[in-house]
Amino acid sequence: MYVQQIPWVANYDENEVPPFVLPDPLKAVDGTPITSTAEWEANRAALLEQFRKIMYGRRLPLPDKVTYKVLHEKKNAVDGTAVMRQIELEFSMNNGRSHKAVMLLFIPSGANGEKPVPVFTGLTFHGNHVISDDPDIIVTGVTGEEFRSFDRTPGAQTRRFPLKEFMERNFALAICSYHDFFPDACAGWKKSILPLFLSDDEFDPRPEDMSAISVWAWGLSRMLDCLETVPEIDASKAAVFGHSRLGKTALWAGAEDTRFKLVCVNDSGCGGAAPNRRLYGETLFCMCRQKEDGFGHYWFTHTMYKDCEAPEKLPIDQHQLIALIAPRAVAVHSATEDQWADPRGEYMSLYNAPPVYALYGKEVLTSAEPPAPEVPVGTDMSYYLREGKHDMVVSDWRCYMDAFDHALKG
Ligand code: GCU
Repeated sequence: MYVQQIPWVANYDENEVPPFVLPDPLKAVDGTPITSTAEWEANRAALLEQFRKIMYGRRLPLPDKVTYKVLHEKKNAVDGTAVMRQIELEFSMNNGRSHKAVMLLFIPSGANGEKPVPVFTGLTFHGNHVISDDPDIIVTGVTGEEFRSFDRTPGAQTRRFPLKEFMERNFALAICSYHDFFPDACAGWKKSILPLFLSDDEFDPRPEDMSAISVWAWGLSRMLDCLETVPEIDASKAAVFGHSRLGKTALWAGAEDTRFKLVCVNDSGCGGAAPNRRLYGETLFCMCRQKEDGFGHYWFTHTMYKDCEAPEKLPIDQHQLIALIAPRAVAVHSATEDQWADPRGEYMSLYNAPPVYALYGKEVLTSAEPPAPEVPVGTDMSYYLREGKHDMVVSDWRCYMDAFDHALKG
């Protein structure tokens, strides 16, 4: 049987995974059984609070003042199929502190498209300029060497964003660089939006009950606030998406903000859709303890750092995080070559959330076995195992768009 240790050797053998039992999603935090949507909703806040305390950290409040300024607009972007708009979001406090983020928006301009349009909302690694090679996209993100090195050249990630398909299917796309809310590094605290809400001495040592993931998720909600003011967008029809660490973030954003009607979770792995109790691929222990300055130190709360050793003792697991999204739609994707993210486990969490979705009469997954690669399954709760590596590509987007169409039909 596999035992976790440092230096880290990941387990990729199903036969070595120690047996575990997931907490019953229909048991309230106080132990009483849940038998109706009313009982589930009465318990929801307490469950959300457990996830805040143990894993993702507390939710920031709203800033004293928020302003939106259009920095740039182009009417014939994406080969004439989209209006591209770049909006500066400025958050300020009465104490004089302020912080800015730049949102890049593509709105379908096709004559047949109905307006206002639904919108996919997400964060990108690097900066806004990597998702398209349009030279008018303002360069965002950070440049310092202390921040994790990804390719930040303009257009470096166009394969992840099939903009024309978004426009053809009449979906808007809104993105921000995650660095705009919290630069992705241990040193990111001080350059993040947190100084708006904390005094200088609250940073040393860093706040134990906060995390980068909760700040990124908060940023997604602030983007949605801004989208509510954009006339061509129907912000009551918003989906949130994210890949990898941003897939973990999308899940958390969907649990915290019920305005998101669909949550698209891509290759989110450990701390995302993969069960904490299943010791396969990356684990919480590996994430938090493997390196002195590993990302577990700031992606999650300090409680997580302490609790990661014995996930079986945690009162929660990730299928309950998915349940917190109910009755809204959720689409979980994995990739065959991304065993680090534990595809089988990602499916397992989705499959174990249904008791809550069933309370709402939603269509749930019925097979305990994940589907074969390249065979998407489900509607209100959907799953797709893509053939290939850790990435988010056109075929993922086609499934997310189908899930969104389904969710919007009600
Ligand atoms: C690392 C990390 C994962 C994370 C991924 C990413 O692989 O271990 O937890 O999801 O980076 O965000 O790219």
